[in-house]
Amino acid sequence: MISIAITSQKGGVGKTTVAVNLAYALARRGWNTLLLDTDPQGSVGLSLSERARKCPGFYDALRSGGDGVGSILNTRLPELRIMPAGQVENLFELKPPGADARAALARMLEALAATGLDVVIVDTPAGLTGYTADVLRSVDYALVPQQAEPLGVRSLPQMLGALQQLRQQGARIQLAGLLLTMMQHGQHESAEVGRELRQIIPPRLMFESTVPRDPLFLKASGLGVPLGLLYANPPAAAVAFDQLAAELESRLRLSATDDTLIPTRLMD
Ligand SMILES: Nc1ncnc2c1ncn2[C@@H]1O[C@H](COP(=O)(O)OP(=O)(O)OP(=O)(O)O)[C@@H](O)[C@H]1O
Ligand SMILES: [Mg+2]
Repeated sequence: MISIAITSQKGGVGKTTVAVNLAYALARRGWNTLLLDTDPQGSVGLSLSERARKCPGFYDALRSGGDGVGSILNTRLPELRIMPAGQVENLFELKPPGADARAALARMLEALAATGLDVVIVDTPAGLTGYTADVLRSVDYALVPQQAEPLGVRSLPQMLGALQQLRQQGARIQLAGLLLTMMQHGQHESAEVGRELRQIIPPRLMFESTVPRDPLFLKASGLGVPLGLLYANPPAAAVAFDQLAAELESRLRLSATDDTLIPTRLMD
């Protein structure tokens, strides 16, 4: 099992949108996927289901010392499950990070792996403090959404520095890649940011796939569905996540057989 935190120190860059749609795309490709919401505001629940918002989840498990497996919810897609954020009465009550939280997270990930999951996609709140620091110390990879606008790029060196610092402190976290989101292909500034980033960031650290800015994302999250389920046929912007899922598979060697050709003949 591999665990990937969708993380950024900036708010509103599309973390939850990426987490929901990527988890859905991976599940559609056959991977047993868990979408784990660690945002105390319960963004995944807000975006997908009223029921998920009221159920116990991640924070209840951390509080009680449990592994959270019992709070996993099924979805219509057998390969996609969700652990909601759970109940956080008072944001001030969130415990400061420490060895206890890390041990609890390690236990949780171990228990999740034992359930036969292939991938855990972790949605995180903006910033790298509090429990998010512990989450980043516990997962295998970070996927960093980067809004394709000039101001958005300023915080990037800090973000990459923070990941390096975690590794120096002994965490195993690696950058799965930087993902340009809210790309406006017809707009000069947006294309320029993409071009500039590709000049300074090594290609192995940037996803080829980009997420276009599309009002349908807002519509989909308003209706509580991944974009791929908004219409009978997935709209073009949803395909970006199929491409991202395919890129992740080969980058992270998710598939042991990814180099093995298994062609299916169209006719006998
Ligand atoms: N590619 C996109 N095109 C258009 N709108 C988008 C796109 N991605 C996200 N949005 C919209 O932007 C808003 C913020 O997105 P989202 O909630 O995914 O960001 P976030 O990084 O998770 O925010 P927070 O830091 O508050 O958790 C939402 O209203 C969402 O519907
Ligand atoms: Mg969010």
